[in-house]
Amino acid sequence: MRVIFYTGKGGVGKSVIASATGLKLAEKGYETLLISSDPAHTIANLFETDVYHTPTRITEKFWALQVDPVREVKENYGVLQDYMLSLFRSEGLDEVLVYAIAALPVTTEFVALLKVVEFMESQTYAALVLDTVPSGDALKNIYLPTLLGSNAEKLIKLVAPFAQVAKVAEPIIGIPTPSKEVISEDIKVIALLRKLKKLILDQRITSLRIIATPEPFSIQNLKRTYLLARLYGINVDLAIMNKVIPEAVSDAYGTGWKHVQERALADAEATFQPLPIKKLRLFQTPIKGHALLSAVGDELFGAEDPAQVYFEGKPVKVKEEDGGLEIRVSLPSASTCKEVCEVERVGEDLSVVMSSDVGEVRNFIPLPRNAHTMKLNKAKLLDGELLISFIKE
Ligand SMILES: Nc1ncnc2c1ncn2[C@@H]1O[C@H](COP(=O)(O)OP(=O)(O)OP(=O)(O)O)[C@@H](O)[C@H]1O
Ligand SMILES: [Mg+2]
Repeated sequence: MRVIFYTGKGGVGKSVIASATGLKLAEKGYETLLISSDPAHTIANLFETDVYHTPTRITEKFWALQVDPVREVKENYGVLQDYMLSLFRSEGLDEVLVYAIAALPVTTEFVALLKVVEFMESQTYAALVLDTVPSGDALKNIYLPTLLGSNAEKLIKLVAPFAQVAKVAEPIIGIPTPSKEVISEDIKVIALLRKLKKLILDQRITSLRIIATPEPFSIQNLKRTYLLARLYGINVDLAIMNKVIPEAVSDAYGTGWKHVQERALADAEATFQPLPIKKLRLFQTPIKGHALLSAVGDELFGAEDPAQVYFEGKPVKVKEEDGGLEIRVSLPSASTCKEVCEVERVGEDLSVVMSSDVGEVRNFIPLPRNAHTMKLNKAKLLDGELLISFIKE
């Protein structure tokens, strides 16, 4: 069983690449299900056919499913939904609005994750491919289960995805206390999240594949996503640079863009190596229909098996010490780096600039929660690892 998540900023090609991967997997003989939580029904548009909330056959071994969060929550998590409804109703919000809130991407993503457990247990498919929503927050939902400790039967964590939704209205309303039924339903959710956690942290089963376009901003975002995933122990096995302008383009217009892309690609290669990076060229038209999606799959994977685990990275190690915290990051680029030039806190991340063979590389290291209130002590490179220590103030 393989579970492959695709993530990246809006418009980088998640839906196209997830669909092309799905087709290719099916071609290789895997019974494959593509799960989309994109509320825009992109998958239906891509394949030019209806895609329902239950597995819809696209080709002999390829199925797609469009998550319908409102229906799902109602059918399977009704009690929780009742709680949410009561939450909003208590302040006289009308039901249409409540349903609109329930359909926010964060909930959709969460439901898509619970679907993964469902299909994992049913053992109907050999491969699940997930096309996620564009917001960077979507990833939090993947991480959420990995954050569950052994004493997780606490309300705050179980309803977290829903609570996040509730936050929208928090400034205006007080939150009603959940009923007993809600709590017992939450415990079911917890059990599901546990299974999900096990699945997501298993490097042989789950891979996160990160997509960017070769532009500085997109690459920076990718570095952050990459490290955040590693912080939570989720294996990123492949990076994909999409919409790369083909070699053959030589007019002044295309050449300008090619230079920008070349620099961004060099930065990505320096930073992510040895993580494999695949490039996908910018096609002449938007990608639509089976034939073009197949062509994308061929260009990306050729004769390879897309289900293989392309890379197994080491997670970020966090060690609590008496006076503080030590974080060890085995940065792919660290072996080519000479020294740390600049360390700076940016929100909840640490921005670290290092000098390397190819000039300066900047990484964003997301910090574990307990480091937020501590003071940065020092950062240094040691045996291909970046060592950061924090002390309690
Ligand atoms: N390699 C490519 N060549 C040409 N067009 C592409 C390529 N990759 C993606 N596109 C086009 O870019 C647009 C965005 O792609 P896609 O919908 O897959 O992105 P996405 O990351 O899923 O977006 P969203 O964040 O909105 O869900 C689509 O019109 C798609 O056809
Ligand atoms: Mg999409």
